[in-house]
Amino acid sequence: MDKSDRASRPNDARNDGRPTLPAAALLFFRQFLASPKSVGSIIPTSQAAIDALLDPIDWSACRTFVEYGPGTGVFTRSILARAHPDLLLIAIDPNPVFVEHLRTRMPDPRLKAVEGSAADVEAILAAHGRTQADYILSGLPFSTLPPGVGETIIAATERAVAPGGAFLVYQYSLFVLPWLKARFARVDVGREWRCIPPARLMRARKPAGADIVEERAVSAAHS
Ligand SMILES: C[S@@+](CC[C@H](N)C(=O)[O-])C[C@H]1O[C@@H](n2cnc3c(N)ncnc32)[C@H](O)[C@@H]1O
Repeated sequence: MDKSDRASRPNDARNDGRPTLPAAALLFFRQFLASPKSVGSIIPTSQAAIDALLDPIDWSACRTFVEYGPGTGVFTRSILARAHPDLLLIAIDPNPVFVEHLRTRMPDPRLKAVEGSAADVEAILAAHGRTQADYILSGLPFSTLPPGVGETIIAATERAVAPGGAFLVYQYSLFVLPWLKARFARVDVGREWRCIPPARLMRARKPAGADIVEERAVSAAHS
């Protein structure tokens, strides 16, 4: 490779041949240094956790997906790779650097990168012509968000998930689990060991219409 080739390479390798962090990982780390409580992690999520959360989804039936805290887009990219051509993917992040990164690096017409807060998910869905989402995925660092913000986001999320849909959460702890259990009918918890550190994966489900009728019938029978 001559010098001009090296100069035109993307900023994910030094020109002296030694390995370096990929540009997106470096951008992520810089944003962590700038806003540690909002970014909440020094490295993006591993592919093992991404696959564990996204593989069980029936992508052929999913048309509206919301991602909270996409960061540099490690989940976003995997969602788009699996998604139906008609999917609307709304990725919400308050960090303008991450939003600009998504817009320039992932120019997919299905993706709408929105600078904002997950707390406003209902208004953001409405602005995109949708009332609810089939799935909402969270990469938020709930334990370091300002007081009250996490509970507000979970309450809004419960309203924004369509019946039969789910709220998918990945965290390094179960900090958020009591809030999920307070709002959702069923919460499944798993662990992905092939991450550093191992991730906790939570799936909070909202019953479909038929399930709601069945649950009412059961509780009526016991009253
Ligand atoms: C741990 S990073 C996750 C990044 C990426 N999804 C991943 O898995 O590597 C947390 C992200 O949440 C974003 N964030 C923080 N507060 C938020 C809020 N109120 N609404 C939406 N995103 C938020 C941060 O800017 C950051 O991109």
